Amino acid sequence: MKNLISITDLDVKEIEELIILADKIMKNPVAYSQKCQGKKLATLFFEPSTRTRLSFEAAMYELGGNVIGFSESNSSSAAKGESVADTVKVISYYADIIAMRHPKEGAPLVGAMSASVPIINAGDGGHNHPTQTLTDLFTIYREKGGFDNLTIGLCGDLKFGRTVHSLILALARYKNVKFILISPWELTIPDYIKHEVLKKYNIEYVETSDLVSVMNALDILYMTRVQRERFFNEADYIRLKDSYVLTPNKLENAKKDLSILHPLPRVNEISVEIDRDSRACYFKQAQNGKYIRMALILKLLEVE
Ligand code: NCD
Repeated sequence: MKNLISITDLDVKEIEELIILADKIMKNPVAYSQKCQGKKLATLFFEPSTRTRLSFEAAMYELGGNVIGFSESNSSSAAKGESVADTVKVISYYADIIAMRHPKEGAPLVGAMSASVPIINAGDGGHNHPTQTLTDLFTIYREKGGFDNLTIGLCGDLKFGRTVHSLILALARYKNVKFILISPWELTIPDYIKHEVLKKYNIEYVETSDLVSVMNALDILYMTRVQRERFFNEADYIRLKDSYVLTPNKLENAKKDLSILHPLPRVNEISVEIDRDSRACYFKQAQNGKYIRMALILKLLEVE
């Protein structure tokens, strides 16, 4: 039985297979509409979500399966003090696969230890978010045709932004990938990613706080929201929340084939005027998320 706790649970070949499958599903959804008949997905969301939970649920329904679950921890027995291990053990009796989001880093891993069905990490605190990364990779693949030789700018809250952490882990495995890490100094990438990934594998990266000065170098610009819920005090959040606001004038020196991504939700980081720019990919990205999750469910359930 395979789980998806970290994006590195999938090797490069498995990611490619998922992307190819997602592409096939996208082109011919009817061919997959009965594949999960009689199967149930449980969505255990101990933290807010729109896209991740609903795209998982839509994915399972479109595969002909069913969905059970909860979207708030206070509507589950967590509110009575039940451990994640016990919750997941019991839900394994009711569902064939579990997608779980939790504010505590490592909670899905703990869940996987007591589960008897596959567990998918749908976001654990400020740590990882592997299915967003699959969505991001599928989007980059569709826009750029592959991952080698790309310069990727990651901008915003690189400290608490779990999507950024997982995306770096994933992209670091391709050839000649370069990262430009753009953030205020208070929100720089965690040391463990620098030491255990970037430095360890000799990956070229630059840290800067100036988005405009690096714009012309970027093939991908991945904007992120400042993660209010992870701050220890509101004053720091208010001071940092508008560090980067992408407006059309800031794209003046950008490449014509730049792809602008954002995991969403957007707060203020990308002005709505950018939505009309052909380089804006974030809504397509949200759409792609459903198909890659369909592919992932099929893989983890070992459906032909
Ligand atoms: C992200 C998350 O939950 O980490 N959202 C998502 O799943 N698309 C990004 C965010 O909340 O900023």
